[in-house]
Amino acid sequence: MGFKALLVCSFVLFFYSYGFSMAQMVPAVYVFGDSLVDVGNNNYLTLSIAKANHRHYGIDFLNHKPTGRFSNGKNAADFIGEKLGLATSPPYLSLISKGNKNENNASFINGVSFASAGAGIFDGTDERYRQSLPLTKQVNYYTNVYEELIREVGASALQKHLSKSIFAVVIGNNDLFGYFESSELRKKNTPQQYVDSMLFSLKLQLQRLYDNGGRKFEIAGVGALGCCPMFRLKNQTECVVETNYWSVQYNKGLQSMLKEWQSENQGIIYSYFDTYVAMNDLIQNPASYGFTDVKAACCGLGELNARAPCLPVSHLCPNRQDHIFWDQFHPTEAASRIFVDKIFDGSSTYTSPINMRQLVAA
Ligand SMILES: *[C@@H]1O[C@H](CO)[C@@H](O)[C@H](O)[C@H]1NC(C)=O
Ligand SMILES: *[C@@H]1O[C@H](CO)[C@@H](O)[C@H](O)[C@H]1NC(C)=O
Repeated sequence: MGFKALLVCSFVLFFYSYGFSMAQMVPAVYVFGDSLVDVGNNNYLTLSIAKANHRHYGIDFLNHKPTGRFSNGKNAADFIGEKLGLATSPPYLSLISKGNKNENNASFINGVSFASAGAGIFDGTDERYRQSLPLTKQVNYYTNVYEELIREVGASALQKHLSKSIFAVVIGNNDLFGYFESSELRKKNTPQQYVDSMLFSLKLQLQRLYDNGGRKFEIAGVGALGCCPMFRLKNQTECVVETNYWSVQYNKGLQSMLKEWQSENQGIIYSYFDTYVAMNDLIQNPASYGFTDVKAACCGLGELNARAPCLPVSHLCPNRQDHIFWDQFHPTEAASRIFVDKIFDGSSTYTSPINMRQLVAA
């Protein structure tokens, strides 16, 4: 090895051993939400049927292995980690599972994911999937982590750490899916009442995160739910108008709620991401993003490949890069990557009042 190379090596080493690498933009990410960001929690829930632990999930992931992500490869949580120069925050249930005890403490401080497929804002939303970690439970777990970290690093060091960390919240999709799939819920609530009640409950949980140290929040609205392959089956492969209408209404309500919540508490900084607008953009202008199929699932069976979930026996589309949807409900890795590009650097069309890059710098 020449002298120059040696110099470069020790330079690189210097930065690596510094602990806080140059590329790392925040100390940690704490993730809350549903299958759009679950990186494996549900694999630890024995009763859950919402599991992505079989082929063809993960076909484009490292070693082509399923990992609990509802994607052919990475999901939004992975890309958020990449943008911030961090490893993906590990599933909380993996950290507390037997055999991992000694590593817990170190891991909590570097970020944790509480996200769970099937989870909703409401505790009952996951009933169809038998078991998940509803948002309330995710925040309960976070509270345990918070108390543990106080014992370890002390309250003031922890507050400093948490106030620079990102709290990412991606939730609400399953509650709305549940509403439009349940005649019982529809009988009991008008869509407006239901949406208002979602926002009321979400605000309580966000408040608990704030009360336990959260300051910088990345919060996603719901997608164009009426356009996912499962719902397109209800309207001759076109989007279901009413479901999309209430997705938009929920997102509008969310933006007002966040403004109000911020005004009631000191020091909250947030970036709202309009998943609906971003998804609709892909659907309306697929070619500009390299997509050719905006309707069908890549992995599934029957019409639009959406008559069945992605199962080991399912049909797989030949090119996973040209599909927006991986299965009945979830985006492909390719679509998730574009969403996170917009989360991070998106204009006010997609993010408000600031984007994630600005949230990090604030
Ligand atoms: C974290 O470390 C402390 C002190 O070393 C220990 O008492 C505690 O049990 C650890 N917590 C977990 C969850 O392992
Ligand atoms: C089905 O799609 C068409 C075309 O977009 C739309 O006009 C119609 O309102 C939709 N029907 C329902 C039930 O959503």
